[in-house]
Amino acid sequence: MNVLVIGSGGREHAIVWKVSQSSRLTKLYALPGNPGTAELAENVSGISVDDHVAVASFCKNKRIDLVLVGPESPLAAGMVDSLSAEGIRCFGPSQAAAQIEASKVFAKDFMARHNIPTARYAKFTKLEDAVNHLRSVDYPIVIKASGLAAGKGVILPETDEEARSTLEDILVKKVFGEAGAEVVIEERMTGQEVSLMAFTDGTSVAPMLSAQDHKRLLDGDEGPNTGGMGAYAPAPVFTNEMLQETTEKVLQPAVDGLQNEGRKFVGVLYAGLMLTSNGIRVLEFNCRFGDPETQVVLPLLETDLLDVVNACVDGNLANVNVQWRNSTAVCVVLASKGYPDKVESGKCVTIEELPENMVCFHAGTKMENRNLITSGGRVFGLTAWAEDIASAVKKVYANVDKVTFEGVQYRRDIAHRALEGVK
Ligand code: AMP
Ligand code: GLY
Repeated sequence: MNVLVIGSGGREHAIVWKVSQSSRLTKLYALPGNPGTAELAENVSGISVDDHVAVASFCKNKRIDLVLVGPESPLAAGMVDSLSAEGIRCFGPSQAAAQIEASKVFAKDFMARHNIPTARYAKFTKLEDAVNHLRSVDYPIVIKASGLAAGKGVILPETDEEARSTLEDILVKKVFGEAGAEVVIEERMTGQEVSLMAFTDGTSVAPMLSAQDHKRLLDGDEGPNTGGMGAYAPAPVFTNEMLQETTEKVLQPAVDGLQNEGRKFVGVLYAGLMLTSNGIRVLEFNCRFGDPETQVVLPLLETDLLDVVNACVDGNLANVNVQWRNSTAVCVVLASKGYPDKVESGKCVTIEELPENMVCFHAGTKMENRNLITSGGRVFGLTAWAEDIASAVKKVYANVDKVTFEGVQYRRDIAHRALEGVK
């Protein structure tokens, strides 16, 4: 098969890396890809991901048999609808199904309609109504811009005053633009967070291994929030019973509900979960592979990824036995100096050869005059896998100095929760 992967981050490098191992693959393209995908696929330049007509004509010219869409924005913009209308097979949800991520108001109302456990909430478009609501809530709360805000639209205000000014920032000052035309105010929950992604053909679900992301910049979960400083999979805190419960009470009802509402979801459904003292609650749904979770989950997939993805697109996922390796993977994000604020880019990178069962996924790099340089906040996801969590952690940190650039920063305690659990 000829396959095209859309996107340019660490997640897409991981997808390209896995697809490149498929026995079904003939030719692999990445649009636009990055210097990491360039080693495994042909990167396509000169076509904007936003130009669905141009992407469709590229697919026809190159006889692409399957398109995998990585990020949420092209999905929310209807790329799968546009390509499918041209007869191009796509792995990813339609625009209508992608609303499960693109609109938090849709997602919350949807969960309420289908009895999917989540935090109590209210939604507002007018500042006055939202501020009035604050009088009746039990603090602490969470305020969320409804639309896509590049991971920045969730605010955890500490005081009533901060809550009011946050609402004003979003609804009146429009700090998130149209993404903040509506807000959700919800109860703040506590507990460990787990990411559970699942393959789905719109009817059946095949859950992946659970993963835990590390959002804070610094060791001990201190410092500002980031796009993710590392991840590991599976998460030992997430037991088999929890997996079963989440499949029955979250994933399957979500997939069924979307289908019944005329928004059949094909692709990866990602449930961000919180394990609260009252049970498992959904924090959010995403309509795609997680980043960096994909960098730790896909290396553990035993089954050929294209077999699974084709089954999803063809509607026969129930016939595939999706198998996972009995190993653990850890990914440490190597970030630029200044991340997550003002980032220093353009630093030269050197990568020494890595041992077996390790990959350095590129997230923010580019080639300039034949040199590999940094070009973003999160530069690499250095990933290792081994028979157990302690060995995987040891391996990744034993090799972290093999990837170097000026100002590199990374957390030294990725997977600490799992390690504490196994001690
Ligand atoms: P979301 O994009 O909705 O998953 O929110 C981003 C992050 O905000 C989550 O990973 C949680 O850490 C936090 N968060 C979101 N909603 C809640 C909530 N209701 N209670 C506590 N933390 C939350
Ligand atoms: N790791 C969080 C996300 O992919 O949205």
